[in-house]
Amino acid sequence: MAEVSSEGPGLTDCYSLGRDYAAATRLNGQYYMWKETLGFDVHPDIPTAPSETPDQPPIQIADVACGTAIWLRCVAQNLHHARLDGFDISLAQCPPLQWLPQNIRSLREWDLYQEPPMELRGRYDVVHARLLFVVVRDGDPRPVIRNMMMLLKPGGYLQWDELDVAHSFILKVKEDVPTIKMEETLQMLSQAGRWVAKLAEAMEQCGLVDARISSFVEKTELAKAFFDINLTKDMETSETKLRGTADGEALQRSVKLMHAESEKGAVICTPKVVCIARASEQSLQRVGNGPNPVAE
Ligand SMILES: C[S@@+](CC[C@H](N)C(=O)[O-])C[C@H]1O[C@@H](n2cnc3c(N)ncnc32)[C@H](O)[C@@H]1O
Repeated sequence: MAEVSSEGPGLTDCYSLGRDYAAATRLNGQYYMWKETLGFDVHPDIPTAPSETPDQPPIQIADVACGTAIWLRCVAQNLHHARLDGFDISLAQCPPLQWLPQNIRSLREWDLYQEPPMELRGRYDVVHARLLFVVVRDGDPRPVIRNMMMLLKPGGYLQWDELDVAHSFILKVKEDVPTIKMEETLQMLSQAGRWVAKLAEAMEQCGLVDARISSFVEKTELAKAFFDINLTKDMETSETKLRGTADGEALQRSVKLMHAESEKGAVICTPKVVCIARASEQSLQRVGNGPNPVAE
């Protein structure tokens, strides 16, 4: 049954980015650039084909921290036989549910730092999340992995797409293009989010099996577009979480300097990673979750 639901005022939202129309536009544009870079929405090793026997229930897919619901929309269009649900701590950026494909059944508020409600546990064949870089706390993705695992059926897959910020690098059109500010920024980035490259280990530590991570570097022809999106995101941070602070002002100066450097033919590129892993019966027992078949 289609639903849009809110758990009410109990959710504490510490998100450091914006949720206005500019932020939504950034996420929507970025989705298409990710799609071109990865070449898929759901990782090709994850089975999504329609079942051959009519008595099998349809495949169930959840997108956690779904943002504008753009990934859900595109997956719903390509997998007509799937049933999809979106979750986010705020649904402010989503279109009305009735405007989305009918096989998206619900958009629901859920804080992924909380265990999921009982009726959602053990329900999904695929749980997807993308771009939780600013959401993960203390450099440790495992609390989030455990909560997302609770949504999975035995045999279901977790797919997490993320920015490998620590392995960012500078791309220049010519060696002598000056990139002083970008180099300074790169120093900081190299210390950030080191957990991303270890996502597969983190998933296995949580009890998932067959974890594997793949890295994707954008095509050079998209490098400037991705870089501009990142500058927009930094500007957004300076105007939300860092608004009115010295750090916010420093970030705005940095954006302007890096933009000026980029006009001479240089950008910072950040590789993207996709990590997938499967839930076994034992994995789910480790997060206190037995199978919980839910009738369609
Ligand atoms: C960078 S956006 C990515 C959105 C979407 N996955 C995409 O790729 O376009 C991060 C999303 O995480 C959501 N978020 C932040 N904190 C959250 C939390 N504690 N629980 C669930 N979602 C959260 C935000 O509301 C936002 O929609």
